[in-house]
Amino acid sequence: MKDNRRFKNKIIYQIYPMSFCDSNNDGYGDINGIISKLDYLKDLGVGILWLSPIYLSDFKDNGYDIIDYYKIHPIFGTMEDFENLIKEADKRDIKIVMDLVINHTSTNHIWFKEALKDKNSKYRNYYYFREGKGKNPPNNWNSSFSGSCWEKVPGEDNMYYLHLYTIEQADLNYHNEEVIEEVKNILKFYLDKGVYGFRCDVINQIYKTSLENGKFRFFNCGKEHYESQPMNHVILKRFQDEVLSKYDAFLVGETSNITPEIGNEFLKNGELDMFFEFDHSMCDMNSFVPIFKKKFKAKNLINPIFKWQNAVPWIGVYLENHDQRRSVTRYGNEDKYYKESAKALCIFLLSLKGTIFIYQGEEIGMLDLKGNTIEDLDDCLAKSAIDSAHKLLKISRKRAFNLVNKTVNRDHARTPFQWNSKENAGFNRGHKTWLMMNSNYTQGVNVEDELNDPNSILNFYKEMIKLRNENDTLKFGKFIKVKSNKNVAKFIRESEDETLLIVVNLTAKGVKDNREEKEVLLANDYEINTKTLKPYQGIIYKIK
Ligand code: GLC
Repeated sequence: MKDNRRFKNKIIYQIYPMSFCDSNNDGYGDINGIISKLDYLKDLGVGILWLSPIYLSDFKDNGYDIIDYYKIHPIFGTMEDFENLIKEADKRDIKIVMDLVINHTSTNHIWFKEALKDKNSKYRNYYYFREGKGKNPPNNWNSSFSGSCWEKVPGEDNMYYLHLYTIEQADLNYHNEEVIEEVKNILKFYLDKGVYGFRCDVINQIYKTSLENGKFRFFNCGKEHYESQPMNHVILKRFQDEVLSKYDAFLVGETSNITPEIGNEFLKNGELDMFFEFDHSMCDMNSFVPIFKKKFKAKNLINPIFKWQNAVPWIGVYLENHDQRRSVTRYGNEDKYYKESAKALCIFLLSLKGTIFIYQGEEIGMLDLKGNTIEDLDDCLAKSAIDSAHKLLKISRKRAFNLVNKTVNRDHARTPFQWNSKENAGFNRGHKTWLMMNSNYTQGVNVEDELNDPNSILNFYKEMIKLRNENDTLKFGKFIKVKSNKNVAKFIRESEDETLLIVVNLTAKGVKDNREEKEVLLANDYEINTKTLKPYQGIIYKIK
């Protein structure tokens, strides 16, 4: 039976397994690496770990292209290692959440291979195979990774398959009851192993109501036919009723272009237990052409986050994940106010209402790469964005890389974790890492050095996490916005017997801000003055 309070009670920490800890020194992080760091995670205070995909995959989209849902990729270890992880985590009262990628499978999945081999195979109907229209694909939709979302089937005349992402990620057909049954079996398989829930990849795109042409758009053309469709709700509700309700487990959805109205639809009948919104994550990019950077203004981060706080009863809140650049680089100040801004962002994030998601490395203030070049690129999205910019905007690849690198390049978030200042930051024992390291691990940005520094970002995160874990007002209290300077996040969290005031200046300038409160629960490095806030000053007061 589901216990709602439990998953609302804990902080979730996202692990990008390839980059967390490489126990066998092959250049890739692995499950045994994660096990070896469970004590660190326990000490940090997080209660749930969400693992990005560890299933068998071709890594065309780093694991989000699954070949076999029932196998662990040997790079990460074995099913036994995974079971051991659940057991070891459980000993420390930590739960494991898997990434559920069911909008698409790899084109190397046996279902897709069978569908290609035999046109009469039942697996043909697991996907969308359609004839082209004359010389054109079946419709005008485009892939989220640029270009058409239809790819020609090799060896067949005028036949295409649908892929909303890379050409190696074929979309599953949820009009087919058998596909729904397959997913239910996958859910059961992992729930029976003791998994505590799933982060559901692009979950509001799984049902394509029709394959008609979409209204013209540069991005997501066709989305009115596949985003948050009525049957999408029905299918998720079935997963809950027919499977999840029998376990103590939850679903968090990755939901693109979500509005409060649609979000409430997903929550109302318990189809999803919470979801992620993406409004705030676009605050420093052009919304039509995201590879163009928009100057960061704190109010553009604060306002959408505030908007969502009371728009839905519960939400997953985050600043970083494996698809976003590092928050201190984007919203803070790497140079002059590195620690102050990292701590200000920590106070802001961890004082919000909802389930808090921390992404690996956020707690030690990991930053975007510096000095990386087009040759270093791994991210398939960044690569295709460069191709498109080169073709459509007629700019050189180098120029396109410079734009992409400051906006949508996901490699920044995926560099190996920094454990110490030794070889490869202690990620492994010297084997070349699958993605370049961020060199700042030698300059104090690593766990070991930060644990030894009482003023470090890591020690501040630990304090803040402890405060949140022990404080029900921060976890469950009401959220009330307070009028302030537009670049200052000022809000109240209120429960029956306690009221907290949170004030965070998210700019590099001092600002006026009047307060009378005295009892400080937590604050970053400054002395407190009740008339002004210093650059990136953040304070949590207890009012009542
Ligand atoms: C989600 C994942 C992202 C992946 C995409 C396609 O957005 O977070 O990493 O590329 O889905 O599966």
